[in-house]
Amino acid sequence: MERTLPRNPFILLLSLLVTLATGSALAEIPPQRQAELIYLLRHDCGSCHGMRLEGGLGPALKPDRFAGWSTEQLAATILHGRPGTPMPPWRPFFTDREAYWLAGQLKRGIRP
Ligand code: HEC
Repeated sequence: MERTLPRNPFILLLSLLVTLATGSALAEIPPQRQAELIYLLRHDCGSCHGMRLEGGLGPALKPDRFAGWSTEQLAATILHGRPGTPMPPWRPFFTDREAYWLAGQLKRGIRP
């Protein structure tokens, strides 16, 4: 009893810390991956949407365009593309979470 009592709060604290760490890992994209995604947005998306995302073969990807779009809607367009148009599906390259994060960046507007 004397030995198990102090151990319980420790285990409780440990599992709390693990839960918190897992939770934030799910909520956030690691900074290095964020940088990769922004790079990809500028270069790969930019090859069709313009290097400054102001339009090219594809339309401009600017916040005013997406003001009425939900982040989910925008993420789905990125993941599935637009069948029958040159807009390809990006599902092989992004997880749902990454597409959602990118959609959030596009809605907010990334600096050119
Ligand atoms: C091969 C060229 C090409 C590439 C690469 C490309 N797109 Fe597109 N995209 C298009 C075209 C063309 C359209 C317009 C489709 C249509 O006619 O509805 C489009 C449409 C979109 C739309 C809908 C815009 C609107 O106003 O309706 C979004 C959002 C979008 N692209 C995001 C992206 C993102 C993010 C990437 C990079 C991960 C990307 N695209 C890469 C060609 C491309």
